[in-house]
Amino acid sequence: MSTTSPLYEGKAKSLYTTDREGILVQRFKDSATAFNGRKFATLPGKGALNNRISSILFRLLRESGIDSHYVDTRNTRDMGVRAVRIVPLEVVVRNVVAGSLSTRLGLDEGVALRHPIVELYYKRDDLGDPMICMDHAAVMQLATDAELQQLKRMALEVNDVLQPLWASAELTLVDFKLEFGRTDSGLLLADEISPDTSRLWDRTDPSRRMDKDVFRRDLGDLVETYTEVLRRLLTVAAAHDPGELTDAPSDR
Ligand SMILES: Nc1ncnc2c1ncn2[C@@H]1O[C@H](COP(=O)(O)OP(=O)(O)O)[C@@H](O)[C@H]1O
Ligand SMILES: [Mg+2]
Repeated sequence: MSTTSPLYEGKAKSLYTTDREGILVQRFKDSATAFNGRKFATLPGKGALNNRISSILFRLLRESGIDSHYVDTRNTRDMGVRAVRIVPLEVVVRNVVAGSLSTRLGLDEGVALRHPIVELYYKRDDLGDPMICMDHAAVMQLATDAELQQLKRMALEVNDVLQPLWASAELTLVDFKLEFGRTDSGLLLADEISPDTSRLWDRTDPSRRMDKDVFRRDLGDLVETYTEVLRRLLTVAAAHDPGELTDAPSDR
């Protein structure tokens, strides 16, 4: 199966059509962006790391009964995915106060939340991806009421799987962002799950940030950091499936 023409060029990934109906290739790029594209860098190796980490997480989620667009890992930077119609919402789950929650509500970063919270952001670069509530999403017809309930439930289910998983990898899952897509058979988890889209803090030294904040806040070498995240994830994933999950993809 070969890839053909680019369908969409995003900030961190590109989508390509393939010769298989309904299957796309999601190519992870080495570009890092923050603050709605105002900060930009090319970091060789980042794309391959996020592809690998995201592939492992989608496979582990599937083992736990959470379906995603993930089909296969083609090579170091390409993931085969099911084509979906993306719901224009970013669904954020938070376990610990950080980032915009800290600034907006005046809470200290690092305070554990009493229970996980789910936030919605309207995927609109030109508006700066504003936070919206369920009623906004419904009135704007971004999703139906039933879909919104399902998005929230699925996001919390993902959290229930990923939080203990990252904890075994000695990382605190502070928060993360999900995207979902529609298929004829319902909603699927889509896009990526990686240190670009999750806040991960070292469990013994929470000041050690192991996610894209390293880039946003100039805290060190992002590729080295993601390499360490992958190393820790592999030690945990090996316990689930010593072969398929942990084998490194090659460029073919
Ligand atoms: N399975 C899929 N089918 C269609 N579109 C997808 C799928 N998975 C992710 N996408 C979309 O592809 C794009 C991925 O590239 P990315 O660099 O993250 O874009 P952006 O700069 O818009 O965030 C996103 O717009 C995402 O919503
Ligand atoms: Mg994106």
